[in-house]
Amino acid sequence: MIAHKGLKNRPTSGTKGRMVKTTSFSCSACGATHTRWSGRCDACGEWNTITQDAPLSTGPAKKSLGGKRGQSIVLSDLSTEETPPPRTLCGVEELDRVLGGGLVPASALLVGGDPGIGKSTLLLQAAARFARTGLKTIYVSGEEASAQVRMRARRLGLEDAPVQLAAETNLRDILTTLEAEKPGLAIIDSIQTMWADNVDSAPGSVSQVRAAAHELTSFAKRHGVSIIMVGHVTKEGQIAGPRVVEHMVDTVLYFEGERGHQFRILRAVKNRFGPADEIGVFEMTGKGLAQVTNPSALFLSERGKPSPGSAVFAGIEGTRPVLVELQALVSPSPHSQPRRTVVGWDSGRLAMILAVLEARCGIPFAGLDVYLNVAGGLKVSEPAADLAVAAALLSAREDTALPADTVVFGEISLSGALRPAPQTENRLKEAQKLGFTSAIAPAGGKTGTVAGLTLTRPSDLVGFVGETFGAG
Ligand code: TYD
Ligand code: MG
Repeated sequence: MIAHKGLKNRPTSGTKGRMVKTTSFSCSACGATHTRWSGRCDACGEWNTITQDAPLSTGPAKKSLGGKRGQSIVLSDLSTEETPPPRTLCGVEELDRVLGGGLVPASALLVGGDPGIGKSTLLLQAAARFARTGLKTIYVSGEEASAQVRMRARRLGLEDAPVQLAAETNLRDILTTLEAEKPGLAIIDSIQTMWADNVDSAPGSVSQVRAAAHELTSFAKRHGVSIIMVGHVTKEGQIAGPRVVEHMVDTVLYFEGERGHQFRILRAVKNRFGPADEIGVFEMTGKGLAQVTNPSALFLSERGKPSPGSAVFAGIEGTRPVLVELQALVSPSPHSQPRRTVVGWDSGRLAMILAVLEARCGIPFAGLDVYLNVAGGLKVSEPAADLAVAAALLSAREDTALPADTVVFGEISLSGALRPAPQTENRLKEAQKLGFTSAIAPAGGKTGTVAGLTLTRPSDLVGFVGETFGAG
């Protein structure tokens, strides 16, 4: 018999193949859970990575989150018993809004983003802001030495901020420090560099990231500390990154932007304490990130005179209207399979709009390469952008510029009908504020009229094409 080296992980507790209910196994490489031990993980195919998880302790709890352990509380009791502690506003409006109106005490947050996008810069600046409001703040870096963090702080003009710095990666030491120091806010940069010494795999692996995030999240709840964790999103290894952490934390923010652009967008993709999809807009300058309080003006600032292929979409990001330019290019394709390239929008949605234009309006795009770009590095996900996309595509295809100073919005259905977009009035007001004089938006829904703005209300796509581009 050949002894497989993987057998060393086999559980030895002698239940002779009959599992106790609480026993479970997980793969230290991909995090998949299994009911039985085996030498190879079915999920990721790695050998010798499955280990038995420590069973959940069933002893009496030292502390519990509310009421006595095992007892439930009537909701109304809970709400009269204690009013929630106040949120802390850091004073940077763009950040406070994305947080849902300030930092909630005892909350766990994840800030994800590509390496080098500016997460450490953002959080060091935020740490300084929060510290200056009187909230005790600790910034724990697992990536840089304290001296390096201090150097960065000096460059950002924050050297006198009362932030405590620590360079540490051992989770146990960090939790001990936090317990002793009792800060109001702790920033952990980054979750991938942290390691729990009771978990038997390398830092950055799924098991480690999950264990560290779990420990930190429950520490936040138990000790009333707000903890912000930084997570790198890597192109190939998204799974080992923040994805496994997302469901554990209260709030997930993603820091987005194109490396070549100076604009950065902080987006709430999940928030237990505020609206999701809220965005904060920042600009990367030589002295760190500066907030941009009027993003519409910024996204439209690069717009030249009206040209074919350009349409201005009046969108809503979170609770705020944002105007953004959509740019399309349509050209004869040298390829048998024409190109469809999209930046900042959903490529499936583009395919749908091209299909609707062809089927309902008889405007073919076969044999034509189509490029679509959202200017400024913003990612648009609203269906209300459909009509603006169609406008940009047709304008590019017909080589006709859309009327100047016009915004477009509305959803296109597969039948070619147009659906009104929510918050029409807010969109129109924002357009008017930025000097636009006309708008094209579907009829129906709650009509908002805004003084100084001419409204065109097509009922379907055919009508829109006829009105905007003549015979189509
Ligand atoms: P960083 O915050 O280190 O990114 P992350 O933590 O997400 O990996 O940001 C690094 C980039 O930001 C780097 O390319 C340089 C740029 N930067 C500035 O442009 N201005 C500044 O003041 C700072 C501190 C960084
Ligand atoms: Mg960093």
